[in-house]
Amino acid sequence: MILVALATILVLNAQKYEGLADTPPMGWNSWNTFHCDVNEKLIRDVADVFERDGYIDAGYEYIIIDDCWALRERDENGNLVPDTVKFPSGIKALADYVHSKGLKFGIYSDAGTKTCAGYPGSKGFEIQDAKLFASWGVDYLKYDWCNTEGQKPQEAYKTISDALFATGRPIILGICEWGTAAPWLWGKNFGQLWRISGDIATCFDCIVDHGSYKDLGVMKIVYMREGIRKYAGPNSWNDFDMMEVGNGMTAAEDRAHFSLWCMLASPLIMGNDIRNANQESIEIQTNEYAIAINQDPLGIQAFKYINIDSTEVWVKPLENDEWAICFLNRKNEPVNLEFDWNMHKINDPDFNYSVNFGVEKFKLFDVWDKRKVGNTKKPFKKRIGAHDICVLWLNK
Ligand code: GLA
Repeated sequence: MILVALATILVLNAQKYEGLADTPPMGWNSWNTFHCDVNEKLIRDVADVFERDGYIDAGYEYIIIDDCWALRERDENGNLVPDTVKFPSGIKALADYVHSKGLKFGIYSDAGTKTCAGYPGSKGFEIQDAKLFASWGVDYLKYDWCNTEGQKPQEAYKTISDALFATGRPIILGICEWGTAAPWLWGKNFGQLWRISGDIATCFDCIVDHGSYKDLGVMKIVYMREGIRKYAGPNSWNDFDMMEVGNGMTAAEDRAHFSLWCMLASPLIMGNDIRNANQESIEIQTNEYAIAINQDPLGIQAFKYINIDSTEVWVKPLENDEWAICFLNRKNEPVNLEFDWNMHKINDPDFNYSVNFGVEKFKLFDVWDKRKVGNTKKPFKKRIGAHDICVLWLNK
């Protein structure tokens, strides 16, 4: 009995490159919008738009092709082969193009026999696949968990982590195990980020039931896991999934979604068709203040402080004794917020940060209105629209 109990909490270890994700990775991934409809023109165009629409300046770095880039079968030597119709110039040329913009290139594989869309998985080919990815100039591998019957997550992620390390090329490993085996307890030994949920759905608070699995709206993912923020930090991020900004929610919901991902120190991986994005979604995903909150060097994930009626107050300690505090209106109608700072002494439940607003005074900066809005001496008042959010940056 005791042996069995010990075995279940045994955490494996591996060598990995340090410092690849001191702050949450930022980039774009093909899956949420394009699913299997990926090709080299799309990826090149996305790289061009990174430059054109200010995403590079905002800090976005990784362009990641998700599932369906390979042929259905390996070649006679067991190598993965890029689909020659979708990627006639090959993956190396594409990675070179992405690199020529100063960006980094990511690709996708799966720990099991097949990917989620039925393409060859890396099980049994980890060393060979890692070498191939490194030879193409891959900088980021998203490694999925479909078709893994009988496999143990820690062992599988250790195997690919070791294989990546052995190539001599620093490659971020994005663990995509959906949180079933508590990757926040062991993921940092093998990779830099781990999904905490199944796939995101393009809605604020819905569940899309597919029978054998469910896609989850923004708020469902936010509330999916209790007590995991203490495991997040530099080079070890809870991944709340690729974003759905620009994919059909209201502008307020997009703003709330993006703000929460920033507050939660989630990787910021865009999932919309940025080639045709409207101005609103460009402005949301390039908001320099929201991004700076996400990229704060302390790397502390926000915690839910209180509810005021149906308004949620989330708090994120920042470096230099600064704070980000946001007010999220869960209602389907506007609310008039009034927040008297003097009444609030806030203690971070997991990290050693606290602030007593009755004693310490701060200046307030509204991240979405992009302007100073007074200080904490007076109660803060704001009308917040349905499903909208107000994010304040506090400094002395
Ligand atoms: C899983 C992952 C998604 C995506 C698809 C690809 O569902 O969670 O993010 O990678 O597989 O098939």
